[in-house]
Amino acid sequence: MRGFIRLAALFALTLTTGSLAAPVVKVHPGGVHDIVITSNNTVNATKPAPATSSTGPSRIKAVRDVSTNGQLPLALINNLDGSVNAYVTGLSSNNELVMLQPNGQWYYPTADPSQGTPQPINANIAIPLGPQGSTTNVILPDYISAARVWFAVGELQFFTVYSGASNGPSLVEPSAVNPSDPSAAVNWGFVELTNTEEGGLYANISYVDFVGLVLGMSLLSEDGSTQTALGLQSDAVSVICAALAAQTAQDGQAWDDLCQVDENDNPLRVIAPGDFLSTNPTAFNEYFSEYIDAVWAQYENSPLTIDTQAAAGEVQCTVQNDLLTCAGDNRGYAKPTASDIFGCNSGPFAILDGDNAVHYAVVPRLCAAFDRSTLTLEGGSVQPGLSSADYYQGTPTNHYSHHVHMHSIDGKGYAFAYDDVNPSDDVNQSGVVADASPQVLTVTVGGPSTS
Ligand SMILES: *[C@@H]1O[C@H](CO)[C@@H](O)[C@H](O)[C@H]1NC(C)=O
Ligand SMILES: *[C@@H]1O[C@H](CO)[C@@H](O)[C@H](O)[C@H]1NC(C)=O
Ligand SMILES: *[C@@H]1O[C@H](CO)[C@@H](O)[C@H](O)[C@H]1NC(C)=O
Ligand SMILES: *[C@@H]1O[C@H](CO)[C@@H](O)[C@H](O)[C@H]1NC(C)=O
Repeated sequence: MRGFIRLAALFALTLTTGSLAAPVVKVHPGGVHDIVITSNNTVNATKPAPATSSTGPSRIKAVRDVSTNGQLPLALINNLDGSVNAYVTGLSSNNELVMLQPNGQWYYPTADPSQGTPQPINANIAIPLGPQGSTTNVILPDYISAARVWFAVGELQFFTVYSGASNGPSLVEPSAVNPSDPSAAVNWGFVELTNTEEGGLYANISYVDFVGLVLGMSLLSEDGSTQTALGLQSDAVSVICAALAAQTAQDGQAWDDLCQVDENDNPLRVIAPGDFLSTNPTAFNEYFSEYIDAVWAQYENSPLTIDTQAAAGEVQCTVQNDLLTCAGDNRGYAKPTASDIFGCNSGPFAILDGDNAVHYAVVPRLCAAFDRSTLTLEGGSVQPGLSSADYYQGTPTNHYSHHVHMHSIDGKGYAFAYDDVNPSDDVNQSGVVADASPQVLTVTVGGPSTS
């Protein structure tokens, strides 16, 4: 029914405008009471902000000794014709909440214990990038973890909430899944990074939750080599929104609702289906049901081999009494739901305390095989086994992940939680750059430089 109505609407629109139907979720940015606090848009410090000698305003600004070892130079290239701000959020090596100020020093946000609602951070924490084509150099003054470098065409709104005297404040970040978030109408994105003394730098561009402002990364190492994750093509959000609308016209599923548009119908971001389901739980309801039945039927009769790519080697799995059961695994797998498949962390794909090494290895490989719909393909009885050329060729599949990879310049980047599962001889799609002694991390905003 839904599909039929959408199809009819699409034809009507195609006739009148000659283009695809507009996507349907329009953002309506709200205020502090429209913020939805979840584990996905908070960073919780375990230590309060360091005290300064003077008491006074609730916003404490502290200057600390900076260890040169922990410094990380960032080169931020603006390829957009617009005014872009960068923001850095994360936890210091002492687990204090930090943000970077334009003067290169950490700012330590605080929270007023007497306030029940999120409190806006009003300090000067926006770092303006130079005009189109320019590079803005900033230095992270010290080690940082759970960090994000945010970019926005305009300004983002960050908040804190008080979480007890012995903890630091919680940072409340813009949330892509909430169309009423105070920052919802702003085009933004981020790269995630952790830079510690023990582990060095580990940075990624993640599309696990959404695709927004287009970003790319390149990391220069001490030996002069570089690692890159080029990110998406500059018009990726519009192109993916159009592809998802076309998919909805074909199968009637809520793919087009993954696209959020501003008040002028310009696409702002595309939400991952798992995240969309967290606020729209009935979407994609029976989407995988027939496929799951076919998978279960196939592996009742012949084994599915999971290559753990670890000490356990290849393990054989078969369906017995409706449970997929793998040799050496401490427990079996019930049929997943769409939400389990998109999120890879619930139902049969939840990893519990006490699960053994085989279980830890099977969950990502099995979930990745569902998202990529490779389980009933020829050669699909060994997972991982088929090359990335075979991913997403079956139906049903994770069309979000498919289109994100199609419009990624080098095909890299996590589009679902276990996107780093690949055959050992295939390219690692993860889009991570990492180095023990990083020299410069370059982030490009708005698509790759053309020169
Ligand atoms: C941080 O704390 C808040 C409230 O205290 C909680 O809702 C949220 O899930 C926590 N975030 C994380 C990442 O654990
Ligand atoms: C991306 O990097 C951050 C920071 O290092 C890390 O917490 C997160 O788990 C990474 N995400 C993925 C999908 O690897
Ligand atoms: C957090 O995001 C994940 C997807 O990355 C989603 O599965 C989960 O439902 C979200 N949790 C909340 C509390 O919104
Ligand atoms: C791909 O790279 C990521 C990040 O370095 C790593 O965590 C993951 O284990 C790699 N995957 C494979 C199959 O080698």
